[in-house]
Amino acid sequence: MPLLAIESSCDETAVAIYDNSRSNDKNGLLASLISSQIEIHKDLGGVVPELASRNHTLRIQPLVREALQKAEIQLSDLEAFAATGGPGLASSLAVGHSFAKGLALAADKPFLSVNHMEGHLLSPFIGEEDIPPHLSLVVSGGHTLLIHTKKPGDYSLLGETVDDAAGEAFDKIARMLELPYPGGPEIEKLAKDGNPEAFTFPRSLLQEEHFNFSFSGLKTAVLYTLQRLAQPRDHLADLCASFQAAVFEVLITKAIRAAKMHQLDRITLSGGVSCNATLRNQLSAACQAEGLAFRASPPQYSTDNAAMIAYAAQQRLLAGETSSLTTDIDPNLKLVTV
Ligand code: KG4
Ligand code: ZN
Repeated sequence: MPLLAIESSCDETAVAIYDNSRSNDKNGLLASLISSQIEIHKDLGGVVPELASRNHTLRIQPLVREALQKAEIQLSDLEAFAATGGPGLASSLAVGHSFAKGLALAADKPFLSVNHMEGHLLSPFIGEEDIPPHLSLVVSGGHTLLIHTKKPGDYSLLGETVDDAAGEAFDKIARMLELPYPGGPEIEKLAKDGNPEAFTFPRSLLQEEHFNFSFSGLKTAVLYTLQRLAQPRDHLADLCASFQAAVFEVLITKAIRAAKMHQLDRITLSGGVSCNATLRNQLSAACQAEGLAFRASPPQYSTDNAAMIAYAAQQRLLAGETSSLTTDIDPNLKLVTV
């Protein structure tokens, strides 16, 4: 069942073609293309919604063509069309969602509106048939979620951020340090040469029993430290390493605690921040020490991509679900409604 999926929730236009009957072959991914707009938004300090949506409209059609060529497949061979329906920027979501609906209408094939966060959450399993129950830690630019995943489509929210998302904290600290956008990779690079104990930043809510997170106090603590230092640029590596250490200690401690409390023997890590090798290595080591299995999404499917949307759409199809062509986008779409 080859299907085509489009992701356009923010500043990446992405198209993937996935065929679960070919999962021995490149994880079933016949094509996964990303056209990034980072160069366009970089000098503007962040994503400008109108520019993002206009560029999605320019890039989507050639990217779909290129994906079909790469997959060596005709449009008429596709059995379903999927797109991210939310959460994300409304004007960006609308481009990919409408395009996929148009393709589904023309081909008279099912349409699937996919939750972006479900895409991230399932991305560690791309290409696999079985998704066992586990604790999912999803850390992206907009979300920090701890979820008990019973099976695809059956999720319980255990905790989330009460203010900034983990990735957002990386981006805001990077801006304070005058590093380029997006901040996460820049901070990771600098942190490699820094001492994570050079500065003691707060580990908010670490001792609380609940599984919510808060990163805005950490942001303020970094700001005060910067104001106190005579030459902050001389301490960039130590600042980045110490900031990262504070974020990761809370994420890892709470993920392990949540898995144990809910008697789950497996933790997964996904979302843009999971590209960070220090986080992956530290969470992997913590899981090993606790006798828990660990799986992170492959780095190429950690930041926004359409492969994860295609895989999530496939899970929906397998469960017998499709979406109506009247389904609207929802910029605030929730994965779990409590
Ligand atoms: O999942 P994603 O591509 O987009 C959202 O759905 O938000 O995540 C993007 C976020 C950004 O905040 C970016 O700074 C962060 O992921 N990120 C990283 C790294 N690479 C990307 N954070 C820390 N370390 C990285 N290497
Ligand atoms: Zn994302």
